[in-house]
Amino acid sequence: MAAATTLAPTLALKAIRKNFGVTEVIKGIDLTVGDGEFVVFVGPSGCGKSTLLRIIAGLEDATSGDIEIGGKTVNTTPPAKRGIAMVFQSYALYPHLTVKNNMALGLKQAKTPAPEIEARVAKASGMLSLDDYLDRRPAQLSGGQRQRVAIGRAIVREPTLFLFDEPLSNLDAALRVNTRLEIARLHRELKATMIYVTHDQVEAMTLADRIVVMNAGRIEQVGTPMELYNAPANLFVAGFIGSPQMNFVAADKLGMTGATTIGMRPEHLTISKDAGRWKASLVHVEHLGADTNLYFDTEAGPVTARAFGEVREAPGTELWLSADDRHIYRFDADGRAVAA
Ligand SMILES: Nc1ncnc2c1ncn2[C@@H]1O[C@H](COP(=O)(O)OP(=O)(O)OP(=O)(O)O)[C@@H](O)[C@H]1O
Ligand SMILES: [Mg+2]
Repeated sequence: MAAATTLAPTLALKAIRKNFGVTEVIKGIDLTVGDGEFVVFVGPSGCGKSTLLRIIAGLEDATSGDIEIGGKTVNTTPPAKRGIAMVFQSYALYPHLTVKNNMALGLKQAKTPAPEIEARVAKASGMLSLDDYLDRRPAQLSGGQRQRVAIGRAIVREPTLFLFDEPLSNLDAALRVNTRLEIARLHRELKATMIYVTHDQVEAMTLADRIVVMNAGRIEQVGTPMELYNAPANLFVAGFIGSPQMNFVAADKLGMTGATTIGMRPEHLTISKDAGRWKASLVHVEHLGADTNLYFDTEAGPVTARAFGEVREAPGTELWLSADDRHIYRFDADGRAVAA
């Protein structure tokens, strides 16, 4: 369930709908984001995350509904006047401008006094470790450095609200981790409100104060990362949050009553050679180093387990699986979570 937002709202979305022609892609979204909050939007491709972000930014008009920023309705306020800065996956830096001028351009256009521009660029560049690159052009930078310039360009505008649309998805794995940590640090230092779209489970879980899980133009659930992990409201959220995905098994196949579907997270299953609750035949093993993913065939269907460390079992082996009752999720015929 949504954590109560005690902070003053920076952003309120009220009954937002959006049609492209006859297709409705946003189907009634209500959401309040508190001052200084870090909110992450997740959901399958095409569910409307970018469209919603663009509506907040003013790059797209809502078909109906209200957008309030700082208590004021901004439905007809142009993007530049909304106090928002947006960072995209495909950030376009000006190739002929230096890093410094790329960051300063928006402020120059807004006729900000030169000393003020100097000060803001210097501060952003310090925060993003770009001091050594200020005179370079984008072509002379790595992908990660370019992405930092794009973030710097947003920071210097000192917006009320930062919008990020998958800003790290072009970066390699190590850079993603570094930049993720940088964004977390920036959020702490700037105390700014941030809305961040990602496909990455780890980014969502680690960055968010609250995660908004979207599906086909609607919100399925809003909550802190651990609320969504521990108490998903329905099958969709249960299957979306967590990696590898939660196992879903028909309750009658497990001889369990009071629910239609039983959910068990791979990391909550224990594996034994001698005894357990369900017999399982090992089909495939993935060694990840720190842990092992084990794929089983069982009488109740395919089941994935995740074990800490290295598990040396070969495909074809018959093993036993057990699940701690505290970690069993129950869903009714409509896919809604039900109490044990
Ligand atoms: N300008 C447009 N005209 C028509 N349909 C559009 C337009 N922009 C987006 N859509 C459609 O709206 C839906 C939502 O798109 P959106 O880009 O918001 O999805 P998303 O959740 O950001 O997906 P992804 O994770 O792939 O980026 C999609 O079905 C998309 O095809
Ligand atoms: Mg998108």
